[in-house]
Amino acid sequence: MVSYKELGLVNTRDMFAKAIKGGYAIPAFNFNNMEQMQAIIQACVETSSPVILQVSAGARKYANQTLLRYMAQGAVEYAKELGKNIPIVLHLDHGNSFELCKDCIDMGFSSVMIDGSALPYDENVALTKKVVDYAHQHDVTVEGELGVLAGVEDEVASEHSHYTDPADVEDFVKKTGVDSLAISIGTSHGANKFKPEQCTRNAEGILVPPPLRFDILKEIEKRIPGFPIVLHGSSSVPQEYVKIINTHGGALKDAVGIPEEQLREAAKSAVCKINIDSDGRLAMTAAVRTVFVEQPAEFDPRKYLGPARDELKKLYMHKCESVLGSAGKA
Ligand code: G3H
Ligand code: 13P
Ligand code: ZN
Repeated sequence: MVSYKELGLVNTRDMFAKAIKGGYAIPAFNFNNMEQMQAIIQACVETSSPVILQVSAGARKYANQTLLRYMAQGAVEYAKELGKNIPIVLHLDHGNSFELCKDCIDMGFSSVMIDGSALPYDENVALTKKVVDYAHQHDVTVEGELGVLAGVEDEVASEHSHYTDPADVEDFVKKTGVDSLAISIGTSHGANKFKPEQCTRNAEGILVPPPLRFDILKEIEKRIPGFPIVLHGSSSVPQEYVKIINTHGGALKDAVGIPEEQLREAAKSAVCKINIDSDGRLAMTAAVRTVFVEQPAEFDPRKYLGPARDELKKLYMHKCESVLGSAGKA
């Protein structure tokens, strides 16, 4: 058993309280390897932003959760070495069982998500409460979820989405004791967040998605004032990256995300954690494909993972400075 406190990590409690008061959101970036972790820490140190490092089920399978935990511990030291002791949370993304959440808490995670959103309401309440009861004994914070997001990624998939019902949130928060709540207001996972028929096309033929349901968000805020809200599936799918990928041998079709303007607006509300994974995947892929096309003789991984890391850092700095507003808040 190791406490996250011994590793220099923090839970989300203070971070979220400050973010709500300050009208900004904390970036929650997924990581699976060293280059992603370096890019996140470099970007957040340079912009002086607090950060949540997220580990998904897919990441645990790919990289091994023990290694990822040591990398997060390394991230704390790395940030100090770069000159700023920024607050860093190690968070389990989309935990799907009590056992998994307990395992992560016991090995040094400072925050876990228990995603019971696909379960019947009462089962979601019971499972979430069980995780909260254990987590709080160790001062670990817990994110629950109500409502189902559409979209598909390796380990997180749902064919049928539905918005969060504001009528449920007060009861859920009271019965479970969760520290934050992920809601469904129109975001979704992956790089194809909307079907083309749900969108309109602008003059350049680019898909314009339907707006997020800010009316539902407002209603939720009214029912649980000041309570930390989380948005998953919040990548914007920058069209510059899609274009680079597709002109360098890629084949991304109808990729569309959440416009940054809407995320900016959300960050000013009780939304205090915004999850971004797909945009990072696009940034890395665009950079790697460019090297492969422009320097076909190159075969040193550092020569394509290095530029991928640099592009990723640029993207993350942009998110902290110009979208979430977390820059300068560490
Ligand atoms: O919400 C899902 C995350 O983006 C992680 O996806 O399981 O493919 O790592 P993954
Ligand atoms: P994106 O696929 O929009 O990046 O969402 C990531 C996410 O919600 C991780 O939990
Ligand atoms: Zn998610």
